[in-house]
Amino acid sequence: AYPNLAPRPPMGWNNWSYYMCDLNEKIVLDNARALVRSGLAERGYRTVTVDDCWMSRQRGPRGELTADPAKFPHGMAHLGQQLHRMGLKFGIYEDVGTLTCEKYPGSLGHFREDAELFARWKVDYVKADGCNVPVAPGHTKEETYRDLYGQMSRALRATGRPITFSVSAPAYFQFDGDSVWHRVIGWSAELGNLWRGGRDVALQKSTPAAKWSSIVYNFRYNARLAALQSPGRWNDPDFLLAGDSGLTRQEMQSQMSLWAMMAAPLISSTDIGDLSPAARKVLGNKKVIAVDQDALGAQGTVVQQDDGSAVLAKPLKNGDWAIALFNSGDTPRTLSVTADTAGLPQTGSYRLHDLVSGHRTHSDDTIVAREVPPHSTVLYRVTPD
Ligand code: DGJ
Repeated sequence: AYPNLAPRPPMGWNNWSYYMCDLNEKIVLDNARALVRSGLAERGYRTVTVDDCWMSRQRGPRGELTADPAKFPHGMAHLGQQLHRMGLKFGIYEDVGTLTCEKYPGSLGHFREDAELFARWKVDYVKADGCNVPVAPGHTKEETYRDLYGQMSRALRATGRPITFSVSAPAYFQFDGDSVWHRVIGWSAELGNLWRGGRDVALQKSTPAAKWSSIVYNFRYNARLAALQSPGRWNDPDFLLAGDSGLTRQEMQSQMSLWAMMAAPLISSTDIGDLSPAARKVLGNKKVIAVDQDALGAQGTVVQQDDGSAVLAKPLKNGDWAIALFNSGDTPRTLSVTADTAGLPQTGSYRLHDLVSGHRTHSDDTIVAREVPPHSTVLYRVTPD
C-alpha cells in the first residue's frame, strides 16, 4: 500500500470551490498568510492546495508541465518555498487522464516526469483528478482508472519524497453501482491516503440553497462509507464551505460538525482573509477539530435516521464518545438517542459537553433529547461515568 502519510485526516485550504480558475500567486499567498494570521494554520489548516488551472495550456519543450506565467510569474517552486517559509505545506492538482477537467495537460504518459517535477518543487500533497480518461481498448473503465492511478501512485512513491496522495477515482464511479464503486474505494485506499466521493460541493457562485443541499447530499453519501475507511485511509466528502458562502451560521456549523463526526479531511475553500467572525469560529473550534482529528481515527456512524434527521455516534481514543444530532429539515425537531442505540457503554450516567455552546450537563440512559433548530447539528462529547 501507499505509505501512510496522513495518520490524521488532512487539513488545509484549496482555491477551487471559491475561486475556481480565477486564481493566481497573490490569491494563494494572501490566503496562506491569512491562515497563519487568523490562527487557523496553528489549529491544523496547513496544506495549501492549488487546484485546476494553474498550468500553461501546453507542456514545455521537453514535455514538462509549466505554470501559467501570467498567474504564477515566479513559478511553482517559488510558491512552494513561500508556503514552506510560513510553516505550511504545498499541495498541487493534476489529472490522470489526457487533460484536466478544465482542459489543461493531464499526466497520462508523463507520470514519472510529473511526479519528479512535483518532488523537485517540494510538493507535499497531490490531488489527482479523473477527467478525460480514455478507456484502454480491451479494458474496462475500472481497469483503466486502476492502472492510471496505480501508475501515478508508484511514480509519486518512487520520488522518495513523502507526498500525501488524494485520489479522485471513486467520484467517477459513484453511479456505477455499489459493488463497483466500493471496489474502486478499496483500491483507491491502497494507492493513496484519501479519496474523493460524492458530488462536488456547490461553487461560490451557486445559491445558498444549492450549497446547503450539496452539503446534505455529500453527508448522506459519505455516511454510508464508514466501513470503507480506516485510520490513515480517509473518505473525502469535499470542501468546507464556511466563509463568504451565504450559508447561515447553523449551516456552516452543521457541515463542520458532520465532517468532524466522519473524520473527514477538513479542507476549507473560501477567502480566508475575509472570514466573518462567525465563520472563523466555526472553522477554528478546537474541540470540534479534536473530534475530527481524534487518534482512534474512527468514522462516526449513523445510529438512527429518518428523512429529515440523523444521529451519529463516534468512539474517541480516551473512552469518550462524540454524538451528533442533525436536523436537515426546515422546522425545529426534538431529537433523542439512548445509550443502547448509540452503542455507548451502559453506565446509566453520562457527562455531556456541547462542543459549540460549551454548555455542560449530565444525563441518564437517554443520553440526549433536545430541540434542534432547522439545518442545525448539535455536537456533544459524552463521557460515560
Ligand atoms: C473536479 C473536482 O472534483 C473538483 O474538486 C475540482 O478539482 C475540479 N474538478 C477542477 O477541474
